[in-house]
Amino acid sequence: MISEASTELTQSGFVVWREFKPGASTLDVSAAIGKVVEIERLLPGRGIPTVQALKPRERETVGRNRYSGNYGLGEFPLHSDLAHWPLPPRYLLLKCIEGVRDVFTSILPWSLILPSFGMSALQRAVFACRKRRFGSCGLVRGMSRHQAGCVLRWDPLFLRPLNTPAKELAALMSAPNWAKVSTQIPLFRPGDTILIDNWQVLHGRSAIPVSCTGRRVERVYLSEVTL
Ligand SMILES: [Fe+2]
Repeated sequence: MISEASTELTQSGFVVWREFKPGASTLDVSAAIGKVVEIERLLPGRGIPTVQALKPRERETVGRNRYSGNYGLGEFPLHSDLAHWPLPPRYLLLKCIEGVRDVFTSILPWSLILPSFGMSALQRAVFACRKRRFGSCGLVRGMSRHQAGCVLRWDPLFLRPLNTPAKELAALMSAPNWAKVSTQIPLFRPGDTILIDNWQVLHGRSAIPVSCTGRRVERVYLSEVTL
């Protein structure tokens, strides 16, 4: 199962495993498939754990530096995680702890966006981080290179478009039609897991119905995977 996942990850930018080692910890599952980004060690004192527990929250109960603090139980727009970092983590792993059927992780590969917005324009698109703070940088581009890889990024909340290509990308991504071409993935059983290539696909989350506030998901970032 794991070996097939390598091809799928390369081709689609994400992999889904159903009921994958539900009894194992998210950290153990992540460490078995790649190199975990130890956020606690990278950013000591910031209170960001390496394994992050994600649960639906009302907007008023969370700081504005979090998606929940801006969108609450509403839909999370498509974005790259930690897009304001100089080098966003390559992968994120989401593992279901308590599942629900009516909440979906949306996945949109950049390969579906690039026909409408060329790689050259993406490379020229410059964004400022919404807030300067440790762990973030001053300016980032929509496309940059790292070693042999291409880093593609977008975030409507934490990045502020500075030049014309960046504003054009922001306008393009605000169009409602992306929802129709996104893949919608529910995490509904313990162990259901999505591994996302954060450089190659954007992700979001559907709104949380009142009946689904018990959803519990854990997230870990990885710098590389060895499937
Ligand atoms: Fe995210």
